[in-house]
Amino acid sequence: MRKIAVIGVGYVGLVTAAGFADLGNRVVGMDIDEEKIEKLRRGEMPIYEPGLEEMVCRNMKMGRLSFTTSYDEALDGAEFVFIAVGTPPGADGEADLRYVEAAARSIAEHMRHPLIIVNKSTVPVGTGDWVTQVVKQHQKEPIPFSVVSCPEFLREGNAIQDFMNPHRIVLGSTDPEAAEKVAQLHLPLRAPIIVTDLRTAEMIKYASNAFLATKISFINEIANICEAMGADVKEVAVGMGYDPRIGPHFLEAGLGFGGSCFPKDVQALAYAAEVMGRHPQLLRAVLDINQDRRRMAVERVKEMLGGSVAGHVVGLLGLSFKPNTDDMREAPSIDIARYLLDEGARVRAYDPIAMDNARRILPEVEYFPDPYSLAEGADALIVVTDWNEFKHLDLERIKNLMRRPVLYDGRNIYDPKTMFELGFIYRGVGRGYPAPENPEPPGLTMAKAGGL
Ligand code: UDX
Repeated sequence: MRKIAVIGVGYVGLVTAAGFADLGNRVVGMDIDEEKIEKLRRGEMPIYEPGLEEMVCRNMKMGRLSFTTSYDEALDGAEFVFIAVGTPPGADGEADLRYVEAAARSIAEHMRHPLIIVNKSTVPVGTGDWVTQVVKQHQKEPIPFSVVSCPEFLREGNAIQDFMNPHRIVLGSTDPEAAEKVAQLHLPLRAPIIVTDLRTAEMIKYASNAFLATKISFINEIANICEAMGADVKEVAVGMGYDPRIGPHFLEAGLGFGGSCFPKDVQALAYAAEVMGRHPQLLRAVLDINQDRRRMAVERVKEMLGGSVAGHVVGLLGLSFKPNTDDMREAPSIDIARYLLDEGARVRAYDPIAMDNARRILPEVEYFPDPYSLAEGADALIVVTDWNEFKHLDLERIKNLMRRPVLYDGRNIYDPKTMFELGFIYRGVGRGYPAPENPEPPGLTMAKAGGL
């Protein structure tokens, strides 16, 4: 049985700790937040993640997983120490590394035997080398250690599944023996293992997230054009996705990406590129397009309400940045609610699990216990998060409860034709339905637009 310490039991750390314990290792999760550790010891999860509580509690009962606030206890007898602390964005979008530095210092001060330090946090390229330096500087005596980068690719809401069935494991190190030992830890997961140098491993994480974010902004740009041209972006994406060079995933047009990773990582990569004298114009465009989605949603609702939202009651269906999580970080709902409030709307909202978190960020919003009470007396509804329960609403009932049947479907969960038939004033994202009744020949439109 190998012993692993995990520093930081936030999202990534907790899933990593529970996952490795489940694979039969002895894992100690360490965090400086006493309240969080107390909760975990009682079997209460600090975050909502399907399957996590069961996995944590089962492994605690089996004696394979425990939690502490003490570095000495965590590092005692450990062969590996994973750093999984937060790297929040700084003022200019750069990654703030103060927690990584604090963890590296504390590991250095408390280590009593050789260690393999594995970095799981998403960190700028070059951080692994810097962590090596920080540890060396703060060691009381020169005990050998190695730093290995092992970026995580977990999706919130799917993290347990993703941990157990990764598409690949990326390991970066200058010490092949240490990389080999970390590879051994991952062997039961039966995933391809890529071993490379530290900086390349760190870059693989940023490049992967930046590419996925680019796919989303790309399809959102196409959605804007589809709206103007009378085409349906949902079907465009299906048609594109059959080409294996494109693939069907991450082509859902909507209100754009949020969450703890994409916005922060694309910003951090663009920032680092600029600092190095590069001009990351594609990354900047990806971020701009994403921000525009939120403004655009409000503009569309304004149009649907006849030009203004002032004095109107607008209900948000969903608040979390995506379904199956209570995470509000960078959620489109925050900007959308604020834009609406700035324009004089009365904003109300319902979310199956994110309302407690949302209340702290959006105290001016009124919260409702279910979609039907939300709809009652509303002038417009906006689907902000594509929770499954919204896909199966009694739409007829919703329509009858509303003061005006205006529905802006920011996640394209409804069929436009059905919505029109039900009598909604409905718009989805990038869905040019219905096509104009007396269309001009496309050539003429192009000529008008200066294209011919
Ligand atoms: C992401 C990465 O997928 C993961 O590999 C990385 O480790 C962390 O960041 P996560 O933030 O949990 O994971 O969310 P993900 O499911 O990838 O969705 C990100 C955002 O993109 C959500 O706001 C989602 O609504 C949006 N999205 C996703 C789209 O708008 N369209 C799509 O087609 C896909």
